[in-house]
Amino acid sequence: MKVGLLTGGGDCPGLNPVIRGVVKVIDNAGGECLGLLEGWRGAITGNHIQLTPANTDSIFDKGGTILGSSRTNPWKNPAEIDQILETFKKLGLDCLVAIGGDDTLGVASKLYSEKNFPTIGCPKTIDNDLSATDQTFGFDTCINIVTDAIDRLRTTAESHRRILVVEVMGRHAGWIACYSAIANGADYFMVPEKPVDLDDMVETLKRKLDSGKKYGIVVVSEGAKLSKDFVTKDQELDEFGHVKLGGIGDQVAKIIEERMEIETRSVILGHLQRGGSPSAFDRVLGTRCGVHAGQLALDKDFGKMVALKGTRIVGVPLKDAVDKMRVLDDSFYEEAAVFLK
Ligand code: F6P
Repeated sequence: MKVGLLTGGGDCPGLNPVIRGVVKVIDNAGGECLGLLEGWRGAITGNHIQLTPANTDSIFDKGGTILGSSRTNPWKNPAEIDQILETFKKLGLDCLVAIGGDDTLGVASKLYSEKNFPTIGCPKTIDNDLSATDQTFGFDTCINIVTDAIDRLRTTAESHRRILVVEVMGRHAGWIACYSAIANGADYFMVPEKPVDLDDMVETLKRKLDSGKKYGIVVVSEGAKLSKDFVTKDQELDEFGHVKLGGIGDQVAKIIEERMEIETRSVILGHLQRGGSPSAFDRVLGTRCGVHAGQLALDKDFGKMVALKGTRIVGVPLKDAVDKMRVLDDSFYEEAAVFLK
């Protein structure tokens, strides 16, 4: 069996362990793997490398993806879909393992349902916003990075008696902000799923400072809304039509300073949250996803995505993962909100 692999969308720690897992399972069964470079762009151009246990065995601790990534959306141009099918034919691929978030898996799902090409999906994203799986790899490492950053910000906030606003990623889901708030004892946090209440924020921070706390930490999700519009870096949309979020943290810091007359600073953690080595949890989850994706390929169980359900990795219909976004569950929000009182 000849299996193609690609990684698409925003990179995240844990992609390389997946690649290593797929390659090992296919090689153990006497098959062969090719890596298409830079997401769907490589599927269009045919640009690829040979993947073997020898060149993937030591990549389990490496961040990013050895295959490169892009936000190329071939469904925007039907000619590119034809080119992809041509590439698959030329390379003699029996199936494709697409490792990505909702955009990349959406392309794979449509290739399967509309073009009958055998695809298998593997869910990745620091945002943790994919349906049909309990958690995506990349998320755990991201929370650890945010935690390390806030541990550092807390000491300087305390020394200067300041409030520090920390803007985190997550797009339109508040998982990163909510988990970071819990892990870091944040004094206030904002997520896209809940309306922002600035009066409540100011009152809460005042109450905490009045009761003796000398500093404050506010975690803001990049996708939270201060008005009817998102705060964006510019007006451009990416190939999948997403706005480029960023900048709400600065605005929240200004509001706090104006309304509370306390020195406030903001930090946008940005792409730091996606960089570096995967945590042990993400190395294990990524590897297990890769092993099971390889097995689905060998079983010719196509149109499926590997998913974490409880502690097991199972195959679920690829379509279920991309039909709708998994936003922050209310119960998690309520657990974190206990500390806003
Ligand atoms: O989906 C992952 C993510 O990091 C989001 O949290 C963020 O909004 C977006 O990607 C940033 O995209 P880019 O890397 O294209 O700037």
